[in-house]
Amino acid sequence: MTLAPPRPNAFDPSILSSSASDLALAGGLTFYVGEQTLTYQSNGQTIDCFEGADRGDTAVRLSLEAWQDLTSQMRTFVGLMLTDDLLVERGSFDRLFDWEPVLRYLHAGIVPYDPSRAAFNGRDPLASFTLATPDEELAAQLNTMGYLHVKKVFSQEEMDAANEEVDRLVELARPGDDQSWWVTKEDGTSALCRLVYASLRSSLFASMEVDPRIRRLGTLLDPSLKTAPDRMEGAAILIKVPGKTDGLSNIPWHTDCGTGGHAFFCPAVAIGIQFTGSTAETGNLKVVPGSHGQTLHFQWQSKFENVPVVAIDTEPGDVTVHIQDLTHSSPKPTGEGLRRTMYVTHYPPSLWDHVGAGAALNDLVRNRNDKVAEIKRP
Ligand SMILES: [Fe+2]
Repeated sequence: MTLAPPRPNAFDPSILSSSASDLALAGGLTFYVGEQTLTYQSNGQTIDCFEGADRGDTAVRLSLEAWQDLTSQMRTFVGLMLTDDLLVERGSFDRLFDWEPVLRYLHAGIVPYDPSRAAFNGRDPLASFTLATPDEELAAQLNTMGYLHVKKVFSQEEMDAANEEVDRLVELARPGDDQSWWVTKEDGTSALCRLVYASLRSSLFASMEVDPRIRRLGTLLDPSLKTAPDRMEGAAILIKVPGKTDGLSNIPWHTDCGTGGHAFFCPAVAIGIQFTGSTAETGNLKVVPGSHGQTLHFQWQSKFENVPVVAIDTEPGDVTVHIQDLTHSSPKPTGEGLRRTMYVTHYPPSLWDHVGAGAALNDLVRNRNDKVAEIKRP
């Protein structure tokens, strides 16, 4: 059996050439897959693939099943490492991230993001909308940018009630309860940063999850998408802890399929209901407009200079919408923190073929902070 994926003529030589130039100094990457060996290498002009060759500066070992998951976009390098299904035998784990964009192109045709190819089709990345905006316009903006800001979807009274309900669930939450994520603050104490599966223990959040306003925004691009209350952490409420923290409260640039699942849940659409509103001081959402459906190295700041970034400031009752493979971040609050956002994600039906109730990767690693800290990437 050959490991190398077929190389259709459809590959754009300029994309391969640009990737090869980026990787010219990175050294090759060798995969040991069962008894077989494969090396990817840049010759400065394009990317070569050598079956049987063991000449990469970095070499990793994985099973044939894991290799198939990697090449079919079921799992990523990070996802495989979190489950101990990938072993770095030589070189550095970081080098895998340098290779990831072009490998996703070679394996699955997913284009590496490049700011020189970003096209907004005359649209404004800073535009915001209301529910009075026609669906066609909302969908066109979402398709172009990968996100939307919709104002005044919920009233202040509705948000007040939601915050009271969050207070109730926060009171009940405990570290290790499997319904919450915690971070360690500088003084060594624990702080709650996320409630998961919130709609399963709150009738208010269960009704919000199926609210027609949310369903409308969640299905703008595809009416077959639906919410998953009992899997993929269901309705998850983010609470941005102020100050310096250790753990997954402040999440650097990432995509929501960064640990895997791209093949069966993208392009899922996440709705962020802003219970408190958000600014840089409370830790707002930042996005790279138009980066969805592509791969952008998570340390892109050291690779590209002119990547557009939008920080979305919101009022209580506003809603953000993002396609899950959009590159985005949840930075450290510059001030008092405590943004509260409930994410209700709408998934393609294929999710249910692959992920059981409470059986996503996050469920597995929620209480394994040591392993997550090792990687520092969601
Ligand atoms: Fe995210």
